[in-house]
Amino acid sequence: MRYSDEFLYNLRQNNPIEEVMSSYVHLKKQGRNYACVCPFHADKNPSCVVYTDTSSYYCFGCHAGGDVITFIKEIENMEFDEAVKLLADRAGMIIPERAGEDVSKAYKKARILEINREAANFYYLMLSKKEGIKGVMYFKQREIKPETVKKYGLGYAPDSWSALRDYMNSKGFSDEELIEARLCQRSEKGTVYDIFRDRVIFPISDVSKNVIAFGGRIIDGSGPKYLNSPETYVFNKSKNLFSFHFAKKSKPERIILAEGYMDVVALNQAGFENAVATLGTALTIEQATLIARNTSKKEVVVAYDSDGAGRAAAHRAIKIFAEADPDVTVRILDMQGAKDPDEYIRKFGEIRFKLLIENSQDAIHFELEKCKENLDLSKEADKAKFLKKAIYVLSEIPSPVDREVYVSKISEEHNISKDVIVSQITRIIASRKKAEKDLKWSGITARTINHFSSDDVNPDAKKYPKENKAECGILAYLFENPERFKDIYERIKPEDFITSFNKKVYSVFADRIQSTEYFTLSSLADEFSGAEMGKISEIMAKSQDITINENAINDFINVILSHTGNVSEIGDLTDDDFLTMVEKMKNNK
Ligand code: UTP
Ligand code: MN
Repeated sequence: MRYSDEFLYNLRQNNPIEEVMSSYVHLKKQGRNYACVCPFHADKNPSCVVYTDTSSYYCFGCHAGGDVITFIKEIENMEFDEAVKLLADRAGMIIPERAGEDVSKAYKKARILEINREAANFYYLMLSKKEGIKGVMYFKQREIKPETVKKYGLGYAPDSWSALRDYMNSKGFSDEELIEARLCQRSEKGTVYDIFRDRVIFPISDVSKNVIAFGGRIIDGSGPKYLNSPETYVFNKSKNLFSFHFAKKSKPERIILAEGYMDVVALNQAGFENAVATLGTALTIEQATLIARNTSKKEVVVAYDSDGAGRAAAHRAIKIFAEADPDVTVRILDMQGAKDPDEYIRKFGEIRFKLLIENSQDAIHFELEKCKENLDLSKEADKAKFLKKAIYVLSEIPSPVDREVYVSKISEEHNISKDVIVSQITRIIASRKKAEKDLKWSGITARTINHFSSDDVNPDAKKYPKENKAECGILAYLFENPERFKDIYERIKPEDFITSFNKKVYSVFADRIQSTEYFTLSSLADEFSGAEMGKISEIMAKSQDITINENAINDFINVILSHTGNVSEIGDLTDDDFLTMVEKMKNNK
């Protein structure tokens, strides 16, 4: 879907990037620009630079970057259209009718959302029909109150092959659409049938309260305990969380992460609106980031099941939170006497659950306890094994003050000199630092490069380093000097570009610049993904440090046009080499 360039231009003008970003991050003035601690990766130093001239941002740590729309997309976890809407609302602008082009995907999305809303309504209504008595009885037995059922729009899918299909058909939704929304399926014989049958239904919503998917729990009989909608145009399992819209709205100090839908519903009913769960999959970095960012105390309480599987999952969650945000405090609930939060609250009540949270141990304690698993500490050999593991855990604590506390504790508990523990930790940290340094590339540790990894965006760059640099040089120059486009375009065409991504950027750029007087980075934002916008911003950001003049451009064009199709022998030019090359070209004129 495309918006007019004029609209996007105005949208950006009315939403200065530094203003928009400053409501999410703390911006520090840095010359003409601003810098901030990057909100998209575990950042310690302000690696993210906000360029007021080009209205873009770029993180030198994780390569995230783009314009104000990309920023909103990434930080709010929104689709392009939603981000546009948010910014339009923010600036009090009206979104104009969309200009032609391919609206089919957007249309399909809207249609699936309508289908989901109607289906949720159907499942909910079933609870007041005789077919739905089983569902009502089930919620009653689980002590879910009618107002909670209503709040979540819980429902029941009747024990029928076509109840939903018939209802939806009568509302004007075709079989094809129901299949696309993953509510129905076609059998080998060709009949279309309902996927959710004889199950209680948990609708899954996004932050804007759209129903994006369903989870269905079995009541009795056979089959998997839960069925979850597969991913669709509107459902991304790794970026959404069950009940997140309620949690976010409650502006919580901390968020409780539980394993099951039922746990979250029970917690909510007991007054803990800040509870969320993943959607039938393990916690992802995106979800962890989303959780951490939406708590005022940067705190999460992991309330997973108390069995072995739950403990193992909690251990993995700790690692994921640490990776998503090293400043987040993770606490682990130790629910003695109950298998999960739902059961705990039913057995002991919400006041005790609250106490449990307040007295919960932090993740380090949990990890240290885990080091004792399967060991008999009265045996010297096992004690040594434990200490080895424990020292490793301690070495991963970022704050020296926190580390000191645990060093003392372990030293006292196990009667080992503090010095020995400290020297071991120092050794581990030093060797880790060295390994990181080896991976360093122009100030970027490979460890921090997450899903924005830029090599994936332009894999050809590795093969043709020299040509890639030349192409980037031309693109950067054009972004800064769009009025020079015509001249340069006469001499070099997108087809001449060697690497596929740069070729696409140049060609889209050419397309946009010829059709509008309002060229901005935003003009590209609907054509490229977040990662791709990051790459484009990187190209622009790197060019800020050098002045590319006409001479350099001539050389760049020559490099590209004289490319023979052979893989460059020069090997990978480092950024420094690139800068030197450009400097040389400047001086040679
Ligand atoms: P649980 O088995 O702990 O379920 O799975 P629960 O939500 O506590 O449900 P009750 O209390 O038994 O009714 C935790 C979560 O794992 C996913 C679901 O998201 C579930 O909420 N799950 C579990 C599945 O996706 N499929 C399954 O077959 C089982
Ligand atoms: Mn349960």
